[in-house]
Amino acid sequence: MEKRILIIGASGQIGNELTMSLRNRYGNQNVIASDLREANALVMESGPFEILDAMDGKATEKAVKKYNIADVYLMAAMLSATAEKFPAKGWDLNMSSLFNVLNLAKDKKIERIFWPSSIAVFGPTTPKTNTPQHTIMEPTTVYGISKQTGERWCEYYHKRYGVDVRSIRYPGLISYKTPPGGGTTDYAIEIFHEALKENKYTCFLSAQTALPMMFMDDAIDATVNIMLAPSQKIKIRNAYNLAALSFTPQELAVSIQKHIPDFTIAYQPDFRQVIADSWPASIDDSQARKDWGWEHRIDLDTLTKIMIENLSK
Ligand code: SER
Repeated sequence: MEKRILIIGASGQIGNELTMSLRNRYGNQNVIASDLREANALVMESGPFEILDAMDGKATEKAVKKYNIADVYLMAAMLSATAEKFPAKGWDLNMSSLFNVLNLAKDKKIERIFWPSSIAVFGPTTPKTNTPQHTIMEPTTVYGISKQTGERWCEYYHKRYGVDVRSIRYPGLISYKTPPGGGTTDYAIEIFHEALKENKYTCFLSAQTALPMMFMDDAIDATVNIMLAPSQKIKIRNAYNLAALSFTPQELAVSIQKHIPDFTIAYQPDFRQVIADSWPASIDDSQARKDWGWEHRIDLDTLTKIMIENLSK
């Protein structure tokens, strides 16, 4: 039987698009999507799907055996804003799901793992612009603490047990296909929906809050490419810095006004402002570019154009 891929968290913002991209590349039957809840029709109808709780180690192992899985992409997670509301649950989900797959790899039941980290691993004491790969990391959110801890465990499992785990610190990801859930960077998606519906948007971050961002297609390319790279090229086994764009809500509003001239934005920062303020404004990702050839393609105005064209349909 052929070696196959399992995506855990396939109904989420990244999981959904990642599933379709991997199915295109490796064949529909070789990419098994799984989640607690059913995914969209495209994912459900194009290939195998399993209801799977990422926290259930036994069920995960069962799915791995059933489909002869080699690679696991663990995309299930509770994001920053939601995890501040449910700290214990966020920690449990983010850590136990990771240990489940790390242990499967340690026991040689799977060959490789992709696990996403985030800019949330950084904190208020981290250098804010062009944040280096190796720097001070004192995250102040539950989500950030879980990602930072997860990174340490990934590196540990690689060094101690030879586990082939690969990871990226995703910036805020912007897409039109699947709604995001519970992130601090989600304003950059909501704004497009509201601009098209209401011509106006009230932003939960302040005008000048610069954050690292990326269009989803670039993030999917990065994910597929880091997994395609020969193992010896992956020098960082906690997680790579990854960057494309850095912009503020005001700059995004100006880009939207090029398409919708009477669009207006107002600012009403809430608890998410504190989270955003603790994160970098921009990221130095030169190591990813050097080690495995990372390149982004989509700039801010292209992103705006793609979002508006597709959401208008
Ligand atoms: N986009 C995520 C969030 O805002 C960051 O990884 O929580």
